[in-house]
Amino acid sequence: QAFMAAGADCTNCPLARNRAVRSEVRQHAPALALIGEAPGKREVMVGRPFVGKSGELLNYALKQAGVARADVAVLNAIACGPIPSDNEIVKHAAMRACRPRLLNELRALAPRGILAVGAKALAALAPEGSSGVTALRGALLPLAPDVTTPDWVPPFFSTFHPAHILRGGDGDNDGPEGEDTSSVDLLYYFLLFDLAKAYQ
Ligand code: URA
Repeated sequence: QAFMAAGADCTNCPLARNRAVRSEVRQHAPALALIGEAPGKREVMVGRPFVGKSGELLNYALKQAGVARADVAVLNAIACGPIPSDNEIVKHAAMRACRPRLLNELRALAPRGILAVGAKALAALAPEGSSGVTALRGALLPLAPDVTTPDWVPPFFSTFHPAHILRGGDGDNDGPEGEDTSSVDLLYYFLLFDLAKAYQ
């Protein structure tokens, strides 16, 4: 099976002993693939991506944006979780180790659009040296050259991670127009807008 070869026998990263959460895939070539960061405690317990607090906000936003979750595939940049203490070094190693698995899954799935949800998914799929979500969200972006195939070059967008929105943003006025992207209402509005746009 193309989806989720990683698991108990994968020893490619420091999360080797953690549990892998299978991607949520219902159909080939779905309208959209959402790519998150890594499963949390709840996701590992349930064995499904985005079922915890972030998932609740994501589901709410999907509904408001008029997107049925059944019509989208849900994957993570890192298959296993949770990441101990949200450790960036572990995350970095896991991202690198898990990227071939993510790309294999995406190519097999061939979604008609991709939305990177959060900085890590964006970094995993955008060309090296790209800016972050605050600068790039909502914009049509190039994918890294090793993601696409000659027959499959889907539109690619990025948006804020629900966990970032739930934390209330980063407190910086660092949007492209110098706007306060730390306002929770604005961040949520961006998530809605970006979901609707990527789903078109
Ligand atoms: N956050 C993610 O990025 N992915 C999940 O599956 C759950 C929470």
